[in-house]
Amino acid sequence: MTDPDEQAVVTVATASVAETEAVAETLARVLPAGGVTVGLSGPLGAGKTSFTRGLAAGLGVDTSLVASPTFLYLTDYPGRGRIVHHADLYRLLELSGADAAAAYESIGLSAVLDGDSVCVVEWWDHYQGPAPAALVRVEFTIENAEHRRLFVVFQTSDCERAAETFRAELLASGLTTAG
Ligand SMILES: Nc1ncnc2c1ncn2[C@@H]1O[C@H](COP(=O)(O)OP(=O)(O)OP(=O)(O)O)[C@@H](O)[C@H]1O
Ligand SMILES: [Mg+2]
Repeated sequence: MTDPDEQAVVTVATASVAETEAVAETLARVLPAGGVTVGLSGPLGAGKTSFTRGLAAGLGVDTSLVASPTFLYLTDYPGRGRIVHHADLYRLLELSGADAAAAYESIGLSAVLDGDSVCVVEWWDHYQGPAPAALVRVEFTIENAEHRRLFVVFQTSDCERAAETFRAELLASGLTTAG
């Protein structure tokens, strides 16, 4: 397992949905091979589902399939080589204790995490299971109606190198990084 203390952060600013999708599509190109979890956190309407759509596009998924799974909890999309699982833990917020644990188990996320697929999880801050072997966290903040700041935290093996490659690819695509 990757040392959870070992991480590398890339900060990106976006000024539109299209830019948030482009950041995610770029991330798809630098994700490690095999199983990886992408945990998205941030307030309502921050852009988590938009980011998922961009990431899915980068992984060869037909993006017309990608909607917010808030009431379904977990959806699967066939991607290029890898399945993409899309989960939304928002409704776990309403539950506590044993109810939250039972609801978490019923989602089925624990069965697919750390497999060979890409698991994208909205409301990652509500995740209750063990730390995934390879994790990229994306924390969103809303600056105003159109601007978002994304903190992309690589908690993967060779995370410094992954972050460096991601930064270079973002710059090559004209996206604005800040550290
Ligand atoms: N820079 C931006 N990036 C992403 N979305 C943006 C941006 N600027 C404005 N938006 C708007 O913010 C909203 C983001 O919606 P989205 O469903 O992606 O958010 P979410 O974080 O998944 O919300 P929820 O918490 O309800 O799941 C959309 O209405 C989109 O048009
Ligand atoms: Mg959403």
